[in-house]
Amino acid sequence: MSNEIPNNVDLDHDPQLRRALSVWHPHYLDWWRDSGPDGFDTSQIYLRTAISASADGWANYGYVKTADYRWGIFLAPAANRTIGFGDNFGAPVWQMVPGELRKELRRIIVTQGDTEPASVEQNRELGRIAPSLYDLRNILQLNVEEGRHLWAMVYLLHKHFGRDGREEAEELLTRRSGHPDHPRILNAFNAPVRDWLDYFSFSMFADRDGKYQLAALAESAFDPLARTTRFMLTEEAFHMFVGESGIQRVVARTADVMRESGRPDVLDLGAIPLEIVQKYINHWYTLSLDLFGSEDSSNAAAYFATGLKGRFQEDDQPDHSALDQIYELRKPDGSIDQIPMRRAMNAVLRDSFVADCARGLRRWNRELERRNVDTLLYLPVPSFNRSVGALSGTPCDPKGNRLETGEFDRRRSEWLPTEDDRALMRQLMHPVYEPGKIASWIAPPAKGVDGRPALEFEYVRFN
Ligand SMILES: [Fe+2]
Ligand SMILES: [Fe+2]
Repeated sequence: MSNEIPNNVDLDHDPQLRRALSVWHPHYLDWWRDSGPDGFDTSQIYLRTAISASADGWANYGYVKTADYRWGIFLAPAANRTIGFGDNFGAPVWQMVPGELRKELRRIIVTQGDTEPASVEQNRELGRIAPSLYDLRNILQLNVEEGRHLWAMVYLLHKHFGRDGREEAEELLTRRSGHPDHPRILNAFNAPVRDWLDYFSFSMFADRDGKYQLAALAESAFDPLARTTRFMLTEEAFHMFVGESGIQRVVARTADVMRESGRPDVLDLGAIPLEIVQKYINHWYTLSLDLFGSEDSSNAAAYFATGLKGRFQEDDQPDHSALDQIYELRKPDGSIDQIPMRRAMNAVLRDSFVADCARGLRRWNRELERRNVDTLLYLPVPSFNRSVGALSGTPCDPKGNRLETGEFDRRRSEWLPTEDDRALMRQLMHPVYEPGKIASWIAPPAKGVDGRPALEFEYVRFN
């Protein structure tokens, strides 16, 4: 079986896990055929496959059909860890699920696991309008890796949660992104991803939420979860690179065309106006802020106290008990909520995310500044367009100016993508599948994959 399913969890000597997987695996393949990338079943893709968790084992490149991809199960190598935060600070980490935390832990794993197949479903159609072979290869790479992240969570469910776990693993294959009756668990993972600007924004912001959630779980006292998410994080870096560099290339191209033409409306010249880029940023950034949950949360406090979920890079925190601190949440009306630190862990994690996004924005804006374009991109204030937590329900514009009742809905099209914007993006985006060529609306990548040429390489071979 380990030939078929690369792993470092000793699958050959784990009959119980093999039995669970022998039922689940064919269902997974059905799901992949039904909901995975559409239209490339017979193509050979230049993909990276993880075959071990060692430094050189997780990145093996070669031509593969996606359906023959070897999804595997990898945990980061065991280390002698102790619990790094909360009430049990310094105690040995757990190798088994503590009975009293079973329900919470299962919920955390299922919620994380549910996002992985969701994102594959969301961009299922996008290969059909890829701007280059390089980009087509990258989206398929992301898809197979999100597939493996699902495997990672399913491994934990199968290995540690018995019958409940097997049922949850099946459910992960039955829900569907955007389905009216069986949607995915979290809102952002039901939002449609209809064009490549959606897709890059999704990878920049929603995948980055994923990075922070995984990083918080990588601190978990439940060691198998920590080791699983640590391995996933090695792949996640590439996902965010795809989003961040994707928008950067869009912006660079737009800026070039703006400079050459001397006007901001570059759509008829085959580029994407900055105004539309900004609307997509507003949409995906705010949906992603909602993913962090309520700023004041008793669940978050319990997860931290018990050791289930830590902070981003917990080691760098000065105080791992977080008992005597207060988090100050500035509300849209200028007032400040004082939240006991443990209850504010969602907000703390979100702050790390926001700082990271701001760094990405600065990089995009450098492309504009370098070409003397004076419109810059920005992140909206945290209370703009929110549906979750203490900042929702106070309508304001992206700069934080309060709005009258009804004004948000009236002016929504100034700030968020409209059906017209989306239709324009679809008209602009046509597949470019020839080596050496690229669509008009995006600049070529700075370099290729695995030392290959960026554009002059056949990353996908159609059969
Ligand atoms: Fe993932
Ligand atoms: Fe990802």
